[in-house]
Amino acid sequence: MRAKVRKAVFPAAGLGTRFLPATKAQPKEMLPIVDKPIIQYGVEEALQSGIRNIIMVTGRGKSAIEDHFDVSFELENLLETRGKKDLLAIVRGISDMIDISYVRQKEALGLGHAVLRAKELVGNEPFAVVLADDLIEARTPCLRQLLDVYASFDAPVLAVMEVPAEAISSYGAIDAEPVSYNGSNDRVYRIRDLVEKPEAPEAPSNLAIIGRYVLTPEIFASIESTDPGSGGEVQLTDALKHMLRSRPIYALRFEGKRYDAGDKLGFLEATVEFALRRKDLGGPFREYLKKLKL
Ligand code: UTP
Repeated sequence: MRAKVRKAVFPAAGLGTRFLPATKAQPKEMLPIVDKPIIQYGVEEALQSGIRNIIMVTGRGKSAIEDHFDVSFELENLLETRGKKDLLAIVRGISDMIDISYVRQKEALGLGHAVLRAKELVGNEPFAVVLADDLIEARTPCLRQLLDVYASFDAPVLAVMEVPAEAISSYGAIDAEPVSYNGSNDRVYRIRDLVEKPEAPEAPSNLAIIGRYVLTPEIFASIESTDPGSGGEVQLTDALKHMLRSRPIYALRFEGKRYDAGDKLGFLEATVEFALRRKDLGGPFREYLKKLKL
């Protein structure tokens, strides 16, 4: 029987240079979308997808992430004394949410390098990778969708989405053929090749890899034999390309909407749309936006 995916690795050791100066002294993962840190949305998605353990890869200056998921004794005590039951439940819920372990990436040497830091904690079992700054709004959590494809094909699966031709040079692109899945022929692809950040004319497709993966433990050996690539960093895409030589890898064009919350414009879009969807804020916020003379 194929192994169940129990663990998710959250690489969160990047420097967040696109969000300076906000990220000079605080992790980008802790920037809030409305009132919740970006990383908590990712943790909730993992939880809702059936993941039981999270391995967070952090680095210098990221201790706010650990504090956020830890018990805050003083705060809980204060809220209890003041009878603020709703807030107390929210704060307690975060530390009770899920089992999280931490491992450090001493230097930001790339996403592949960050994932390799989780090797010992993952062990010899399949696992998910979640880049929390890719915020995904979906009826079925994106990671759950990937896990279902993993269960059907018993092979690594990457989340992809269509992007405009001129945007593909910011992503890893796939060269792939569609395969039938759940009665459809345009959702799941078997990957032939992967290209990191291609220029539009050289791109094999407009299907871009985004921050959700289900991987098998062979990826660690592939990362170990991958030299630093674009930007001098060890790229996960290059390691996947290496793994492709010895086993099939699939891609899922997931259902849902992805926001790049690590980018200023993507962050603003997510903030506005998430606020509009909120029961407590949506109405007055919509009224406010309507009054703006745009
Ligand atoms: P990004 O490409 O968003 O890089 O990383 P970044 O450094 O976080 O941000 P910018 O581009 O400088 O603004 C994608 C994901 O990989 C993690 C990041 O934390 C993010 O979740 N990452 C990246 C690491 O954990 N370590 C690295 O060395 C690089």
